[in-house]
Amino acid sequence: MRDKADYLPLKNKAVLVTAGGTKERIDPVRFISNDSSGKMGHALADAAFINGADVTLITSSSLPVSGNIKVIRVESADEMHEAVSSRFESSEVLIMAAAVSDYSPETISTKKMKKQDHMTLTFKKNKDILKEMGRRKKSSQCLVGFAAETDNIYEYAEKKLLEKNADLIVANDIGKKDRGFNVDQNEVIFFSNQHEPQIIPLKAKKEVAQDIIDWIVEFTD
Ligand code: CTP
Ligand code: CA
Repeated sequence: MRDKADYLPLKNKAVLVTAGGTKERIDPVRFISNDSSGKMGHALADAAFINGADVTLITSSSLPVSGNIKVIRVESADEMHEAVSSRFESSEVLIMAAAVSDYSPETISTKKMKKQDHMTLTFKKNKDILKEMGRRKKSSQCLVGFAAETDNIYEYAEKKLLEKNADLIVANDIGKKDRGFNVDQNEVIFFSNQHEPQIIPLKAKKEVAQDIIDWIVEFTD
């Protein structure tokens, strides 16, 4: 019989995880970002590693990373895109837990901008990393994305599953207190083509991460 303690379901699997809110530079001392702390992505990297995977964590968070997890620190959405894109083909699983900024300033000032009475910034749209990897995905690869929503969670998450060609969308209601961004627990809903939406009740992000890994193991088996 297989000894459960020795069973590493993701052994020899290359798992790429992204985490954190990207920072988009305005000038040498300023940036725009979002409320993501990176906790969910870092918990996912840990869970994948505990399950035997060869893990690369691409993160814009400054949270610590346990040894044996290869870490690539990035700042902007562009840097994250490059780091993911160059490693995607040689990975079996990509988990996009990062809160990638949708926009970045049209121009980055090389000098600190001086204050004025009014100031206007213009933004350009960033590349959608998950969507691009969804287009490039082979049938042997598993793609997991997140959906951060404040309303119409079912409608928007289903749309993301389809439009990004993901295998699993983990949706969280960021309008609710004490879950989602920047806290230690989360309550999510899994959207996939295999099952009806599945509610994962409020629990520690570490446990949610294990649930996501279990889903991936079942999917890739
Ligand atoms: N994502 C990405 N690249 C982007 C924006 C988002 O890879 N430029 C990924 C996120 O990492 C997440 C998923 O897409 O896994 C959904 O992100 P979300 O912000 O919820 O959705 P968007 O597609 O950006 O749409 P919107 O913000 O309008 O809801
Ligand atoms: Ca977005």
